[in-house]
Amino acid sequence: MGPYSIFPERASAGAGQVDTLYMFLLVVGIGMTALIFGCVFFFAIKYRRKSDSERPKRIDGSLPLEIAWSVGPFLVMLVMFGWGTKLYFENYSPPHKDTLDIYVTGKQWMWKVQYPNGRREINELHVPVGRAVKLILASEDAIHSFFVPAFRLKHDAVPGSYQTYWFEPTKPGRYHIFCAEYCGTNHSRMTGWVTVMDPTEYQTWLAGGSAGGSMAAQGEKLFQQYGCVSCHVTDAQGRCPSLRNVFGHPVVLEDGRTMIADEAYVRESILNPNAKIVKGYHRDVMPVFQGQLGEEDLLKLIVYLKSLSTPVPAAPGRTSP
Ligand code: CUA
Repeated sequence: MGPYSIFPERASAGAGQVDTLYMFLLVVGIGMTALIFGCVFFFAIKYRRKSDSERPKRIDGSLPLEIAWSVGPFLVMLVMFGWGTKLYFENYSPPHKDTLDIYVTGKQWMWKVQYPNGRREINELHVPVGRAVKLILASEDAIHSFFVPAFRLKHDAVPGSYQTYWFEPTKPGRYHIFCAEYCGTNHSRMTGWVTVMDPTEYQTWLAGGSAGGSMAAQGEKLFQQYGCVSCHVTDAQGRCPSLRNVFGHPVVLEDGRTMIADEAYVRESILNPNAKIVKGYHRDVMPVFQGQLGEEDLLKLIVYLKSLSTPVPAAPGRTSP
């Protein structure tokens, strides 16, 4: 595709389908507009008043005609709705198969990227071709939106929550990242590049920059530094739950509810421990970490807790809406 093509390059598995739907909407939209304006001009000329004495015939309407022009467009709209919904769910629900997880934090005005092995970058994202990649999006401040036109996907990074963004890159190359949600003065400069690489090159690239240790190892350090380790270890004196095999597993709360300990649950339990108390434990035992931990450190702690868990066979569903 040349530099002046209507569509940006298609570089993800779902991009072609998005374009097909878009073309359908465009063709229907242009067709309908042409039909309506055609009728307006045609009838305006055909039924114009031809002499001063001409009196129009009375028209009482036509039920079949009215049904036809109501039901016809309604069915066309239903096709748009059904098709769009199907594509939306396919493109926005991460596959249950093994995904490559990368952690992206939006911050005024940059994208900070952390790889599980500890490599970090700013405004650059490297991924291998042909692998399902899942980004866990967080934000330090305002709402940002991670947008890669070549993947035909955008998703908000919302403060106080984790959002997922997944894609399967199909074509090596470099593609633009934009922030698609107005987030302050330098919103328009909050851009970057995704580099899609050959899988073997990718492994070499990834190994080339993990001097600070893996995210899990850095998380473990924080776990000690903040004193979590003094309480949350296996066979503790029973004041706090052990965190081994908690991540991704069901947790029973004091009110009897059962929740999956996913990223959002762990995050809340660190920042505001009293929000959900595990059955058999007490309030106000753990200090509140709200305001003390940045998003990147929180993600490291989460990756560390993940590493303490054996993976569950069926991937847990997300608890977010
Ligand atoms: Cu970040 Cu706009």
